[in-house]
Amino acid sequence: MSAMDDNGEDKGPEGLGISRPPPLLLRALRPEDEPAARAAQAELSADNFGFLPDLREGEPWTGYVQRLELLRTGTEVPNGWVPTTFLVAEVAGELVGRTSIRHGLNPWLAQWGGHIGYAVRPGFRRRGYATEILHQSLAIASALGIDNVLITCDVGNVASAAVIERCGGLLADIVPGERGSAAKRRYWVERTPSSHRARQDDRVEPR
Ligand SMILES: CC(C)(COP(=O)(O)OP(=O)(O)OC[C@H]1O[C@@H](n2cnc3c(N)ncnc32)[C@H](O)[C@@H]1OP(=O)(O)O)[C@@H](O)C(=O)NCCC(=O)NCCS
Repeated sequence: MSAMDDNGEDKGPEGLGISRPPPLLLRALRPEDEPAARAAQAELSADNFGFLPDLREGEPWTGYVQRLELLRTGTEVPNGWVPTTFLVAEVAGELVGRTSIRHGLNPWLAQWGGHIGYAVRPGFRRRGYATEILHQSLAIASALGIDNVLITCDVGNVASAAVIERCGGLLADIVPGERGSAAKRRYWVERTPSSHRARQDDRVEPR
């Protein structure tokens, strides 16, 4: 039997006084996420980063959630896009971040975007959440049959570079940015069955 404190922190087996961080869950966006997800979208715009990919002006929320599902299954994929699994990260009932796992690479993704894009809301940073989001995203990519995963970040994004390197990313090269924007560091994470097992044993716990 476990007990939760006011912050949703699992205090561990009752009586032992062991404190564990609450688990981070990656799950599909839900209709009831609208207020928190829209707030996250506004917060992330300060980083020039979208929390909600391809959210259209005035689009009803339920339609957007359905569109993400059609993009995941590959049923409706806009021209030039690839099927993508979009998931939000929840910790103790709060949306803390998100991930987009692209099932393949088009020429733009192969050069700049990579397979996986993630973000953590500003109020939840430096707790290990991005590292855990990427770690779980890599397991999902592996389950989708993607063995070599490309992940990119701007050269100046030291936080993202640290996250990728912690998750096993090996720097391949640095390429010029698109149309004069920041250059990109391109990393590969190679997934072999044995490295996958080793990673599971060496699970990164969010703080
Ligand atoms: C990049 C980002 C996802 C990092 O999220 P996070 O949850 O804070 O990352 P973590 O807590 O897992 O950080 C892991 C490590 O990265 C490094 N790091 C994180 N933030 C940092 C910062 N602001 N400055 C320097 N190093 C930093 C640290 O080494 C950190 O470990 P530590 O806290 O033990 O020192 C987040 O800043 C973000 O969402 N930025 C905007 C979107 C973005 O850039 N996404 C990545 C696209 S490639």
